[in-house]
Amino acid sequence: MAVEFTRLTPAIGAVVSGIDLARPADGDLVHALRQALALHQVLFFRNQALSPVAQRQFAARFGDLHVHPIYPQHPEAREIMVLDTNAFDLKDNAIWHTDVTFIDTPPLGAVLAAYQLPAQGGDTLWASGFAAYDALSARLKTLLEGLTAQHDFTKTFPLKRYGTTPEDRQRWEETRKANPPVSHPVVRTHPESGRRALFVNEGFTTEINELPEEESRALLAFLFAHQSRPEFSVRWRWQPGDVAFWDNRSTIHYAVDDYRPQRRVMHRATILGDRPF
Ligand code: SIN
Repeated sequence: MAVEFTRLTPAIGAVVSGIDLARPADGDLVHALRQALALHQVLFFRNQALSPVAQRQFAARFGDLHVHPIYPQHPEAREIMVLDTNAFDLKDNAIWHTDVTFIDTPPLGAVLAAYQLPAQGGDTLWASGFAAYDALSARLKTLLEGLTAQHDFTKTFPLKRYGTTPEDRQRWEETRKANPPVSHPVVRTHPESGRRALFVNEGFTTEINELPEEESRALLAFLFAHQSRPEFSVRWRWQPGDVAFWDNRSTIHYAVDDYRPQRRVMHRATILGDRPF
């Protein structure tokens, strides 16, 4: 069956048909998906039957996998992070964020598979950092040029939410020590397409290094509001068997927290990227 890409919005997102993600991906397919990811930024696949081991195998075709320091790991594949509302408080994903920007080489992307879904709700939104950057005025683009911002693990993972037992507290302390705040450019260049994307996110970005505190706060508040405009985004209503594959270098995303007390379980494989420039 031929692989087809159907755009979802002008700015971001495409549904991909004609691929069984559980089958080993050959070099041509990996190349095609890399190009599609750089173009559409988030790809959606329907009717997949992806075990944690097969999900790890598919994601690993795109790079080394990240093991999250806080979230639980799947017993069959430690690189698969389990987002289970019965096991863990997931409010931290109900904020516009880009995954794991608190490390020097933030992820290239992530593969998210729906394992158990609520009857209603639990949608995920993605927004395009390319579209957000393109829509800025030339004057503001010039101002942002060369600015860097700090990204801090503790902004989304504060001790008060992740340190309830002595073991949790120790793990949190060790993770904080291993992950001091890092700086990334406020606007990054996509290494494959060369497009420029806004690269701050409300989840982890704390301040712009080159500005006084008040100016940094005001500019970040504007950029956070600007980058999540509906015009730059796509909203995905999950069905059983759905998989999303997003480019973490050019997007932010938001997991809508509107379904409790229903349970929602997702499996994520996170692919490491390179140093933003
Ligand atoms: C995430 O933020 O990586 C998870 C998104 C989701 O659960 O929909």
